[in-house]
Amino acid sequence: MSLDVIILAAGQGKRMNSKLPKVLQPLAGRPMLAHVLDAGRALAAERLVVVYGHGGDQVRAAFDGQQDLRWAHQAEQLGTGHAVAQALPECGEGMALILYGDCPLIGAATLRRLLEAAGGERLAVLTAQMDDPTGYGRIVRDEAGRVVRIVEQKDADAAQKAIREINTGFIAAPLARLRQWLPQLRNANAQGEYYLTDVIALAVADGVEVASVLSADAWEPAGVNDKRQLAELERVYQRRQADALLAAGVTLIDPARFDLRGRVSHGQDVEIDVNVILEGEIRLGHGVKIGPNVYLRNVTLGDGVVVKANTVIEDSTVGAGSDLGPFARLRPDSVLGERVHVGNFVEIKKSRLGDGTKAGHLAYLGDAVIGERVNVSAGVITCNYDGANKFVTTIGDDAFIGTDSQLVAPVTIGARAYVAAGSTITLDAPEDALTICRARGQKSIDGWKKPVKNK
Ligand code: UD1
Ligand code: CA
Repeated sequence: MSLDVIILAAGQGKRMNSKLPKVLQPLAGRPMLAHVLDAGRALAAERLVVVYGHGGDQVRAAFDGQQDLRWAHQAEQLGTGHAVAQALPECGEGMALILYGDCPLIGAATLRRLLEAAGGERLAVLTAQMDDPTGYGRIVRDEAGRVVRIVEQKDADAAQKAIREINTGFIAAPLARLRQWLPQLRNANAQGEYYLTDVIALAVADGVEVASVLSADAWEPAGVNDKRQLAELERVYQRRQADALLAAGVTLIDPARFDLRGRVSHGQDVEIDVNVILEGEIRLGHGVKIGPNVYLRNVTLGDGVVVKANTVIEDSTVGAGSDLGPFARLRPDSVLGERVHVGNFVEIKKSRLGDGTKAGHLAYLGDAVIGERVNVSAGVITCNYDGANKFVTTIGDDAFIGTDSQLVAPVTIGARAYVAAGSTITLDAPEDALTICRARGQKSIDGWKKPVKNK
């Protein structure tokens, strides 16, 4: 039987106090709704229908180009039952599974259990046991233990309020049944809303069996209404990612101080110190060591790469055996060969450094094509920008660029060339030669008096 996933995402999320619609608020760097869509896609659903309302254009734009999504507009938020009804014209004839754009931790395995319990003709509801069930709909059962209805907090009497089994909101039901039941919903309740939860009593009245599945995980069905809850789920999500990495053999010095906002692949014996943030697509070879307070975004590190404290690397690739930092910065499109050494306060942008090249201290290398075994001394700067255009600096293998030299691009330094300290190089420097260009004539002035402080 085919499966259609309906995701309710029309709520405003007032308590977020944000211009960004609630379902676009990021968890681990991606909109909450994106996480929910992942779960839906993992179930190989026939259709994914998103019910949107508040901030609709923004929500649709954020998922522009995702061809497998269908959109159903809910102009006014008249309740969860009304929201699902808006999706029905987009749906087929099989089973429907209702998800929520603000419940980002829901997992495919739990949803599969729910769908199995529904089995094609039943209604199935995911429930949870709560020490404090305040605010949730309560699961009301008869003496035989069968679910007979759900009562919302605001409509519940004292006895119902004492029930600690709650409705998580996740429901599976045959679409043909929803098409019968949803038009029968009435809003004569405390909130004046069309409650999706009222379909349970309608199912019972129609002799349709209602199954329930108790969520094995306390966090999976959790919803987000404010930033505090978002932060709480972020930590749960991060802890789970950290645990998965630990299980896969990665050393995390403190799993509570590790953030992955994207995906990481890794070899064996990777070590990650505290406060490391990994974003986007990260690939780590065997034996990679990452020091404290390092930020990596879309980065590939070869085997044995060592990244020392406070280094920032974006959209770059580093070859095996290289070491970077502390306080190194690789900006986008930097490609480092093997055994490259980049030390403190070195900034590299859109440049290639060949195998064995070293830039140990205080340098800026931008738009540079640098060969192998080149020594870039302290204070070297590629002057790559004339205020209007960028130019390339090319440095041959085994060249030595002396301290505090400026290479005014476009310029080429030949292989094995030696640029003397303090040179401002504006013309190409030939291979094998020493090139020097300094202000002429060092003088020493006799009888010079040290300046004294003004009184
Ligand atoms: C709902 C359930 C309640 C359950 C709780 C779990 C109903 C009537 N109640 O209550 O039993 O315990 O979730 O969190 O279903 N939404 C729309 N359009 C609407 C109304 C809601 O898209 O017209 C979306 C909201 O954005 C939200 C979700 O549906 O993501 C739940 O709506 P909300 O009003 O928060 O329901 P609760 O009162 O929390
Ligand atoms: Ca809610």
